[in-house]
Amino acid sequence: MTSTARALALVRALALALAVLALLAGQSVAVDRKKFRTCAQTGFCARQRDAGAQEKDAYHLLPGSQAQDGDLVRAQIAAKGTRGPLNLSFQAYKRGVLRMRIVEPPQDGIRPRYESPDILLGADKLDEEATPLRLEPAEKNAEGTFSMTSSDGRLRAIVTAAPFRVLGEDPDSGRPIVLLNGQSMLHFDQRAPGDDGTLRSEHNVGAGADQLGSGHDGAARKIVDWGEDGKPIYEDGHEDTALGGDASAAADADSNEDSADSDPGAPESFGGHTDARPHGATSVGIDVSFPGCKHLYGIPEHAAPFSLKSTRGPKSEAAFDEPYRNYNLDVFEYEIDEPMALYGHIPLAIAHSAAGTASVFWNNPSETFVDIANLDDSGDKQVHWISESGVVDVMVMAGPTPVDVFQQYASLTGTTPIPPLFSLGYHQCRWNYRDEKDIEEVNANFEKHNFPYDVIWLDIEHTDGKRYFTWDQHKFPTPTDMQDKIAHFGRKMVTIVDPHIKRDTNYHVHREAERLGYYIKDKGGNKDFKGWCWPGDSSYLDFTSPTVRQWWADQFSYKNYVGSTPNLHTWNDMNEPSVFNGPEVSMTKEARSLDGWEHREWHNLYGFYHQWATMQGLIERNTGHNERPFVLSRSFFAGSQRHGAIWTGDNAAQWSHLKIASDMLLSLNVAGLPFAGADVGGFFGNPDEELLERWYQAGAFQPFFRAHAHIDTKRREPYLFGEEVLARIRKTVSLRYSLLPFWYTLFHIHETSGLPVMRPLWSLAPQDEVTFSLGDQWLLGHDLLVKPVTDPGVSSLSVYLPVGTSWYQFEHPHKMYTGGTHITEDAPLDKIPVFVRAGAIIPRKMRLRRSSQAMRDDPFTLMIGVDPNGGSSEGSLYVDDEVTFDYRKGDSCKSAFDYDAQAAKLSGSLSCGSTARTLHIERLVFLGMARRPSKVTLDATQESLDFVFDEETHVLTVRKPVRSFIPIPFSVSLA
Ligand code: NOJ
Repeated sequence: MTSTARALALVRALALALAVLALLAGQSVAVDRKKFRTCAQTGFCARQRDAGAQEKDAYHLLPGSQAQDGDLVRAQIAAKGTRGPLNLSFQAYKRGVLRMRIVEPPQDGIRPRYESPDILLGADKLDEEATPLRLEPAEKNAEGTFSMTSSDGRLRAIVTAAPFRVLGEDPDSGRPIVLLNGQSMLHFDQRAPGDDGTLRSEHNVGAGADQLGSGHDGAARKIVDWGEDGKPIYEDGHEDTALGGDASAAADADSNEDSADSDPGAPESFGGHTDARPHGATSVGIDVSFPGCKHLYGIPEHAAPFSLKSTRGPKSEAAFDEPYRNYNLDVFEYEIDEPMALYGHIPLAIAHSAAGTASVFWNNPSETFVDIANLDDSGDKQVHWISESGVVDVMVMAGPTPVDVFQQYASLTGTTPIPPLFSLGYHQCRWNYRDEKDIEEVNANFEKHNFPYDVIWLDIEHTDGKRYFTWDQHKFPTPTDMQDKIAHFGRKMVTIVDPHIKRDTNYHVHREAERLGYYIKDKGGNKDFKGWCWPGDSSYLDFTSPTVRQWWADQFSYKNYVGSTPNLHTWNDMNEPSVFNGPEVSMTKEARSLDGWEHREWHNLYGFYHQWATMQGLIERNTGHNERPFVLSRSFFAGSQRHGAIWTGDNAAQWSHLKIASDMLLSLNVAGLPFAGADVGGFFGNPDEELLERWYQAGAFQPFFRAHAHIDTKRREPYLFGEEVLARIRKTVSLRYSLLPFWYTLFHIHETSGLPVMRPLWSLAPQDEVTFSLGDQWLLGHDLLVKPVTDPGVSSLSVYLPVGTSWYQFEHPHKMYTGGTHITEDAPLDKIPVFVRAGAIIPRKMRLRRSSQAMRDDPFTLMIGVDPNGGSSEGSLYVDDEVTFDYRKGDSCKSAFDYDAQAAKLSGSLSCGSTARTLHIERLVFLGMARRPSKVTLDATQESLDFVFDEETHVLTVRKPVRSFIPIPFSVSLA
């Protein structure tokens, strides 16, 4: 070890010890706010936000400019004091989507604005959705106000000339749905030839390693490393303890406020980094309001309530001072109830009221702030989108039902392909399992304790010095054998593969990437951008380039990723991207893609592209490209749902973090990204047993179910807490496994129809206003209702059941509850408040096995929630090979179940595609059966089936028939 390395190790050990002490002392996590810009500290946001109160750009239509152009309607708008007209176009998609784009007319000397070709579904798919929009000349008036209707009759838009506004309405009822630019906040920083590409000033941006910094005592010190919190680590062991401690010399967090006032395109400084903004001011924005709507949802990811708080107007408990910020960042120790930016973002806002649901998608991947206001006179909700760059590209989804809106958004950005079944099981992770022996022991312990799990994970310490695609030779000398051993139990492994590449000429991935010129470039566009991350000095691949994506995908081939096997899947972390010594712990906006686009234009797409390329790699590594990949990403954007799962990053082992997880996951689900979860147990800190148990209960009913923990935390595998705790957690996890057929069917429904997996209560009861503010309880599909315990010391809790529905307690169905009221439900430590809808049929598998793979051929149990009003109960089951893409070629089966209470007959159909499958039922459980039947008969054979009726609970269980299971299709009659 060199002396620097020794010093570094010592400093690290000290830092770790301090962190552990802090955690042991029970100190809560606290975000270092000074590291992150506010709106006021961000020129484009401050200017556009202020414009709301001051003079607004009042755009008007240029008279006579509107014209039909094929399926589109085009026009031009202009405003006093701006540089000339802007091109406006409208397009309609057949499910009720109206798209409005505003761009600068092409001009010599001005580079067109950045627009990603990859966020929306490919042109072919969108073309299929296109429906002609007909200009209605009869309604033109002298000023040029006109209207247009989509030829499928789903949408009508009235474009007012002066001031320019667009009102979307229901063509039949005339109900107003959405108003664009109603508050004249449309803003477009137009450029003139000469503005573009002219470097306005030269600044030193992007610090490397071995630099000098000064702590709060002002002394110059050598920086030898950067921490995950974005703070420097000094050679002499000095620590910046005060908030905002920053190594860079000239740090004046607020200096940009002054520069912003004088010249909107001037350089801006923050936290010791200066952004030269060589292209000047390029920001865009618009307000969108929803008449009659008091509730908005979506715009994930924020650790904030599901029903969005206002950020403008009168201050109240339900208000934030700051706009929601959409700028993908690695926010160390994030806090809850905050509109601060987090790791990923989806610029989709959904408005819901008893009259209808509508939504707006702001198709812009640059830094974006979102103000939510209650309009003065009506209290209706307004969204103000404020982006640093790009164009105005707004998609309005007209609903009118929640289901319509989900489908409309899915028709634009796609859905999640049905995940391989194992990935819906339970995942066991920590930073880090030490070595192969540790992995073997953990697996053996799960076996010994008869505890189901599907995947065990390896974090960054498994690599050779944070060189991804490699293994630490001492700790993981035989990775293939290790994976084979795990696979022998029907389980998988996941390794982490981050996007920063260690700049080490002995590292083949770096050598190749450098030789081929695949790294993002620094501001001049010539040198590789360098930043500090886990491996030290690193560069970052340009995943916006299809060539680089293909090269990255190739790294996952078994030949290139030595030691990987088909049972190894992937975790993409730190892909905001996280740059420990960069502005706001990320990449300087002046960095360039290989095409020369500034990073500022597409920052929010870094993780999107990274996960996409990884997914491609996992598909292509197998001959035939037929196996479904599993890739977890921390960062994401609209469309990321097509690439896999995401999780909510570094939460904390605190009750408040458990509580906010459901709000965050609901926001993601309604914004089209269903495969999401939160670290079970909390990443930072040590949960006590009660918190851990309650977290497992919530996590088991959330789509992505993984326990994870920081490297400094105590081990917390469920078998470490004694028999009682183990038994309770095992029961929770077993419940998850028993419902895998239901989860799998929900993901199939999502893929084919765009409906979320985890849904708000208002998706089932759109008129029930009590549901509008609920983010702490949710539905799975529309048949299970979940409200986990998220407070300590609780043995009962209040649950709201929506109007017009009835429910049975899932585990103890002794009673039926009628909706439209709050009920108080017992919730001792071993019970999760989950309810089955009367009218639902839920497919399950009840045999406790070690993993999902071991359950493949098990027979099904159907849980039938009998409708007390005599209506029928319905459900479905989707089955395929659980592993490959063959389902897309028709290799899958579907069953539809129906219980006709009047006829007292339960039936199940079966329709299979290319491969016939035999599906069997071993048990039928009827909840809420009014009376004991005298006989239960399998109609096909007239076999009389055994049953047990519990007079007290009114549960009828038809058990495994004596001779054989019940094969689907079937019908069973109750007499
Ligand atoms: C940050 C991630 O959010 C966390 O889950 C992971 O354990 C660490 N990076 C180390 O890779």
